Amino acid sequence: MTGSDIREKYLAFMTAKGHEVVPSAALVPDNDPTTLFTGSGMQPMVPYLLGESHPKGVRIADSQKCFRAEDISEVGDNSHTTFFEMLGNWSLGDYFKEEQIPWIASFYLDEVGLDPEKFYVTAFIGDKVAGLPKDEEAANLWADVLGKRGVTNDAAELGSADDASKRGMKAGERIFYYDAKENWWSRAGVPANMPVGEIGGGDSEMFYDFGTDHDTKFGEHCHPACDCGRFMEIGNSVFMEYIKTETGFEKLPARNVDFGGGLERITAVANGNSDVFKVDLLWSVVEQIERLSGKKYQDHLEAFRVITDHIRGAVFMIGDGVMPGNTEQGYFVRRLLRRAVRFADVLEIPAGEFKNLAESVIVKYKDHYTNLATKQAEITDAIEKEETQFRKTLENGLKQFNKISLQVHVQTKEVDGKKVIDQESATTKKAISAQNAFDLFTTFGFPIELTEEIATEKELVVDRGGFEKLMEEHKEKSRAGAEQKFKGGLADHSDIAVQYHTATHLLLAALREILGTHVHQAGSNITGERLRFDFTHGEKVEGETLERIEAWVNNAIATKGKVTIETMAKDKAENDKTIEGSFWERYPDEVKVYTIGGEDNIISRELCGGPHVKQLSDITGTFKIKKESSSSAGVRRIKAVLDVEQ
Ligand code: ALA
Repeated sequence: MTGSDIREKYLAFMTAKGHEVVPSAALVPDNDPTTLFTGSGMQPMVPYLLGESHPKGVRIADSQKCFRAEDISEVGDNSHTTFFEMLGNWSLGDYFKEEQIPWIASFYLDEVGLDPEKFYVTAFIGDKVAGLPKDEEAANLWADVLGKRGVTNDAAELGSADDASKRGMKAGERIFYYDAKENWWSRAGVPANMPVGEIGGGDSEMFYDFGTDHDTKFGEHCHPACDCGRFMEIGNSVFMEYIKTETGFEKLPARNVDFGGGLERITAVANGNSDVFKVDLLWSVVEQIERLSGKKYQDHLEAFRVITDHIRGAVFMIGDGVMPGNTEQGYFVRRLLRRAVRFADVLEIPAGEFKNLAESVIVKYKDHYTNLATKQAEITDAIEKEETQFRKTLENGLKQFNKISLQVHVQTKEVDGKKVIDQESATTKKAISAQNAFDLFTTFGFPIELTEEIATEKELVVDRGGFEKLMEEHKEKSRAGAEQKFKGGLADHSDIAVQYHTATHLLLAALREILGTHVHQAGSNITGERLRFDFTHGEKVEGETLERIEAWVNNAIATKGKVTIETMAKDKAENDKTIEGSFWERYPDEVKVYTIGGEDNIISRELCGGPHVKQLSDITGTFKIKKESSSSAGVRRIKAVLDVEQ
């Protein structure tokens, strides 16, 4: 079966169960300042899981593009990829466990046709400290579903993965209870780690048993959540019904289901092969690498997998408007491509072939992701440019690296006026200095992670802390900030951040009114403390003009106007000259437009994913511009706050 077969089967199955299929949101979440990438299918659904009504109803399904930057260094085994598609279905306060479990079982066992003997499931054991109950209901539903299919269905309590590896599985057992680390889902992990306002729930995962021998490196006995490779996780139904509060957990206004299953993994399992790179979506790239390098996949698994994964990730990222660069999301695209170049050299792939590899990716996906077809030239050009640019410095960079590592490894000392090798220095683990790592970055374009990777191969470490310091000194907007943000991973939906979102719309309207309609948004970043807004404008904005802009925004706030949302086709919105918007390519076919003000006094109409205040009287502070500066050529930046101290 092909990846496209499984995607279609799933969406058709969910349609038959009353779901509306929505297009994938972009890989870069809009207006979510605290996370760089969409890393799961539920991320674009958060406002609806919190209770906002979804324009398409209460049953939604999709195949969502996801990117997990933290998995870059995991790529190389048979199942990790940075980019993947997550099949998803959501009940927004509609059906719950009684429907979800039999349905999803039917999809895997009847539609995909997996052997029920090889199918294992888990449920949440509960969390006494957090006051969350054991999910016997899910386990009972599974026992019923599996019993009907004639397979054993005993349940067992395993607890932590550690306990599980000590106990193992007994004959007849198929349903396993695990603790929150395995069977609780929130974007921030276990209940104790969740910030106030974050949503989560117990979950029930599905695994496929490849029947391979257990590797005791991963624990004494095997069990479904063991990492030895015998079991592969192929899907997860989250019963999303809690929100963390100051005092503990409360039920959300409605009980939701959030299901996610990796498309490539499901396809791999459907074909009885545990290697996701053998799925057609990736395999066509692997085959092309075999032709270009004259080498066999089987003999160079890591290099083949890294190149394939990284080129695919870069294609999708550029397709969503993220160009290789040195900050934020663009930095990851750069890292992917530069890392791929190094592995391409290992396989001796001729220079200049990345654009052809990118084309193989596009061919496989363009029917479903039509933006890849329309942007094909842009994508392949950007990839070619990045490849060429990095190759120019790679060779010299590696020479420089070797020089540094020799110096670091073998230090000399003076004995009786003569230089001799310091034997002691050869025995301790040596560090590449921050300055050397920094020079490799600025002069030869080596992302710090690449430097670290090569260093590891040479048994060296890198002074990462010192490097970050130098970077921060070098650039105010250092990439370190981006990594921090990624680790946070959570959208700031706090009240004050929402106020800043709306204030940002007012600021743009003021800038267009006062400076002219050449002004468009070039970037936005919001925290609970301030807004930061980049806009297209060729020259400095003087103090007096800034005061007028401030006053305009404060007058707008004083109207106490309403904020309303409309959903409409993207084409229609893009052609409507009263609607302001940037980065249209990052939005799905169906978009949201926020209008501020009443019918006869429209203050702003803007394309946006939200969230926003319901009316301007919800904005509690006075708008104050703190700083105006240059951001890049032709782009200015304003930092502003909502000041509450009067
Ligand atoms: N949100 C759940 C996950 O990503 C389905 O696993």
